[in-house]
Formats: sequence, C-alpha cells, structure tokens
Amino acid sequence: MSENYLNTNKYKELYKKSIEQSQEFWSDQALQFISWVKPWDVVSDCDFATGKVHWYTGAQLNACYNCLDRHLPTKANVPALIWEGNDPNDATKLTYQELYLQVCKFANVLLGLGVKPGDKVSIYLPMIPELVIAMLACTRIGAVHSIVFGGFSAEALRARILDCGASVIVTANEGLRGEKIIPLKESVEEAIADLDQVTDVIVVKRTITVTPWDAKRDRDYTALMATASTECPCYNANALDPLFILYTSGSTGKPKGALHSTAGYLTYAAMTFHYVFDYRPGEIYWCTADAGWITGHTYVVYGPLLNGATILMYEGVPTYPTASRMWEIIDKYKVNTFYTSPTLIRSLMSMGDEFLKSSNRSSLRILGSVGEPINPAAWEWFYHKVGNSKCPIVDTWWQTETGGILISALPGATKLLPGSATKPLFGIEPLILDEQGQPIEGEGEGALVIAKSWPGQMQTIFGDHARYIDNYFSHFPGYYFSGDGARRDADGNFWITGRMDDVLKVSGHRIGTAEVESSIVRNPAVAEAAVVGIPDEIKGEAIYAYVQLKNGINATKELEKELIAEVKKDIGSFAAPQSIHFCKELPKTRSGKIMRRILRKIAVGETEEFGDISTLSNTESVANLIAERDAG
Ligand code: WT7
Repeated sequence: MSENYLNTNKYKELYKKSIEQSQEFWSDQALQFISWVKPWDVVSDCDFATGKVHWYTGAQLNACYNCLDRHLPTKANVPALIWEGNDPNDATKLTYQELYLQVCKFANVLLGLGVKPGDKVSIYLPMIPELVIAMLACTRIGAVHSIVFGGFSAEALRARILDCGASVIVTANEGLRGEKIIPLKESVEEAIADLDQVTDVIVVKRTITVTPWDAKRDRDYTALMATASTECPCYNANALDPLFILYTSGSTGKPKGALHSTAGYLTYAAMTFHYVFDYRPGEIYWCTADAGWITGHTYVVYGPLLNGATILMYEGVPTYPTASRMWEIIDKYKVNTFYTSPTLIRSLMSMGDEFLKSSNRSSLRILGSVGEPINPAAWEWFYHKVGNSKCPIVDTWWQTETGGILISALPGATKLLPGSATKPLFGIEPLILDEQGQPIEGEGEGALVIAKSWPGQMQTIFGDHARYIDNYFSHFPGYYFSGDGARRDADGNFWITGRMDDVLKVSGHRIGTAEVESSIVRNPAVAEAAVVGIPDEIKGEAIYAYVQLKNGINATKELEKELIAEVKKDIGSFAAPQSIHFCKELPKTRSGKIMRRILRKIAVGETEEFGDISTLSNTESVANLIAERDAG
C-alpha cells in the first residue's frame, strides 16, 4: 500500500481531483486499496431520482480475501486482532494467519449447514473474536451478514431476523459486560420461538452456563469448528452483491435494513480508514464501538483489516472494574489510535481526573470521536487530559447510510476546531440548503445534503426501494438528505447541529421516536404518546415521553414502570424513557398534527416562548402541559 500521507496542499489537490475528475479519482482509489478478481466496466452509474447507487459495476472481488488472504505473504505473523476480555486477566491475540484459519473453518461450517451465496445470516454476539470470524466467514462464501447489537431485546432481534429472512443465527450462550451477564441465547430462544425460517442456531460458549438446548436446531460452535477444514476458496462476489444488511432507525415506521454492496463499500471503508486515521504499519488501533453498529462494521473490522492494521477489540464496559479501564488498556497494549464516542468521553470525564493517574497514555497519536456532536468541554478534556495535548482529534461525521466518514478533520491536513467536523473527505460534496431547498453559499445554516453519490453510499433499504427513495431523495430532489442540520463558517468548516427529524441520539445510539411511541401505545391504558429528546449532560440526549391515558384511567407509578419496562422489552434498555409525563391532552393542530416543537420546549422547562400557537385546536393545552410538568 502506498505511503501517501496527507498535508494541507495534498488534501486540497486530491480533493479538487476527486470532484473534477471523479471517475478517474475513484478508479485510482479502487486500484490502490482493493484487490480485484475482475475489474469494473463502469466506475459509477448513479441517479438519485431513482435511487440508483451503482459503483464499480461489472467488477468481481471478495471481501474476506481483501481483509485477510492478501496480507498473508507479508503479515502472517502480525496480530490482526488483539482481544481484551471483560475480566482484565482475560486476553488473547490472533495473527493474520490465525484469524485466516479460523475464518476459513467457520466459512466451511456455514457451507456445511447449507448456507449459499446471498443467504442472510443473523449475528447476535458480544464483542468477542468469534464476531469478526463470523462476519468474515459470511463474506468469504458470499453470504450476507446482518448483525444485531447485543443490547437489542428479543423482540427487536425477532423483527430483524424476520425482515432479512435469515435461517442461520450465530449467538453466544451469554455475554459479559462489567458485572452484568447478558442472556443472549435466551433472547434468541424468545425471538425465534415460533419461526420456522430459522433452521440453525450456532452457539459460542462464552461462559460455563448451560442454556436450554434444542438438538434439532442448536449447534455448538466449538464442536463444529473442531472438525471443519481450513481450506475454503473465496466466492467471487459481483460489485453490487450485498455485503451486509444493518438495521437502523428512522423518523417513521419500523427500523430499515440499510443494505451495503460489496465493491463500493469496501473501497470507501479502506480509503477513509487510511486517510482519516493516518494509520502507519505496526500501530495498534482501537475503536470502542460495538460491531452491532455501523462504526463497528466499518472502523472496527473492514477499514482496518483492509489496510492490514492491528485492531484492538474490548469486550467489556468503560467502568469495569474501575473508570481507569480504558486508559489502562491503552497503556497495556500501547494503543496509538483511540476512536470513541462523546458519551464515553463525557461519562469518564464526569468520574474525575484521578482515574487518569494509573496510566500515561503516551503511546497515543490520534484520537477520534463519532456518533453525536462533541461539546467543546468534552473535546478539551479529551485533547488535553486523555491525549496529553499532543494528539489531533478527528471528529468524524457520518451515518449508517453513508458507509464511512464523510466529513472529518484529517491529521496533518486540516485545522483542529473543537466541535467542528471541519472538511469533506474526497469525493464528498456537502451542501447546505435553506428552507426553500436552495443551496446557501458561504456562511450559513440549514439542511445538510450531499450533491453526488460516493462509493460508501448504501444501495437500498432491503426489501423496500420505494422507501429508500422517499426517505433520502424526496425532501430535496437531486440531493441525498442526511436528516442532519449543519452550519458552515467563513472558512468552509462544517459544524453539525443535530438531527432535523424525529431521530434521537441517546448515548450515541440511534432511536426513532416513532419506535418508542408505538411501544408505549401498545399498552391498553394508553390513548396516545409522543416522545421527544431532551439534552442530557452525559448521554447527549435523553427520552422524555408524553403519554395520554384513555378516559377513566389513572396515572400511577406502577403504570409508569410498566410502560418503561415495555419499551425495554420491545427495543432494549438503552431506549428506556427517562421521564414519563402523563398528560390530559397532547397539543394538536386543528388538522390533528401533534406540535412537537411545543413538546420539546415544555420538556426542557420552557414556560413562555412557544412561538405561534394559534393553529392549536385547543390553546389551553399548553398551559395544562406546563402545569402537569411543574406538578411533577
Ligand atoms: C447520526 C448517524 C456515524 C457512525 C455512528 C452513528 C450523528 C454521527 C457525528 C458527529 C455530530 C454526528 C448524526 C448522524 N452523528 N457522527 N461527528 N458529529 N453528529 O451512525 O447511528 O447511523 O447515526 O449520528 O446525527 O445523522 P448512526
């Protein structure tokens, strides 16, 4: 891989080329970062009107080959994966050669169960090496993985398994997070109890706990691997073949299966990892995201492995056994790059600086932030305290849909600005639109859209292309609408202002208000519900739920607990409302639309400034809501 590190001029020059000669630019990148079985006929063939996102059509490649096989001649004995368990004494390392052998074996296990190219495999695992092994094994044989974050409930898992049509599930008996034990297999049982579509459940025994076992369906991971061959040829995938489906929340309806295709996604993951993290051979790279989210897909697994990097993977939580754990891990393995979320930074910052004392973190060279806006105080603490005032912070803005980072500072090339994601990456043309959908030139604030496709862009919503078009390309025809707002300063730096739709970011986890509402209204006592986000010092946002009960039903503490428990059951604990506000009436316009603007203001304690409320069908409802809130 060429050693082309960036400086300001080089960034400007390459950026210019990426926009003015985009076909040539993306052809160069694809050749530099990926090994191809067969080259493409066309670099890109995209049309936002029909939601056509076709990159490298006609090409063939294999993801697993690119992540592993091709590195073996030079990196067989280099660690690919360093794993640190929940317990500080539990750790292991897999070299590229060792990871390769495990992946080949597991690919044969899947083949043995009849998994064919295009088949979907659901993965519901904790952060253990088997998760990476399962992902890469799928790609080796052309199967499509769909990872479900272990924090999702059985109900949420079920919906995802059903939607993608998986017949094989890979899970663990239990997961370990700090003092907590996560009963993953139990959730799988509940999720698939009456689903004939699931024929095989492969279970990794992470703990010694014995879980119920259905001999017709359940398979022991270790037993299957013991007899599996280490020889497994790679499937030649077509450029547009799906690589994975990852469910994400929108402002309406059920979670959507973001489908990423093989060639474009991998090229973009590899290129962005290289430039944003400025990775140098031999360095230890640690991204703290769970592989169940897009950050884990692109920057725990694919981006680093495509670049032959050494990744650190941590199973546990940041505060176990103490709030020094992350910093001690950094020293233990001499971590060079640490990529994490503002929520993690804020929560460790709130514990106090004394937890930094048991480590010096002198190995760190690059710090990264992702998932939500980072407030200046957290940025400063991260920069000065964690990074000893010597490591650039890359504040990376992107989304599940974008596959990789679109806007970010670049080490050595762009200025550091606390709270700003700064400049677009190569090939990315962000625009800010005003309320009429017209581009704002120079300084200004509005809706953040992207003018042209890039290789990492998701291809469709699995099974619902119309929804794909409607969601992303209909608000501002001709553009991809991110759902975020942004401000551009006089120097052309981008400052993300947050979601413009009804999507919340709670501890960086993406949650649709509609999902929480539909869980609440399922309770027979509830007439209507409306959920809004309120600022939270640690989590960024917390959930505030307005609940209107049916006539004659009284609000009680028990009912409140019941509603919260239901949300946990339907989605997961991370989506639990922090406050339930029982109300007499929701503020609605005469046409029946809930005025969320008012609800957001009341939730944060506003008493006067509600703007124009003359369109409300009952203007008294505002005063009632305030009185209810103040009565607690
Ligand atoms: C939403 C996407 C990107 C991977 C993890 C989240 C918010 C993401 C930033 C950032 C401000 C950010 C946006 C975006 N977001 N990164 N650096 N600064 N906001 O992926 O779960 O699909 O969420 O996260 O609101 O739309 P996701």
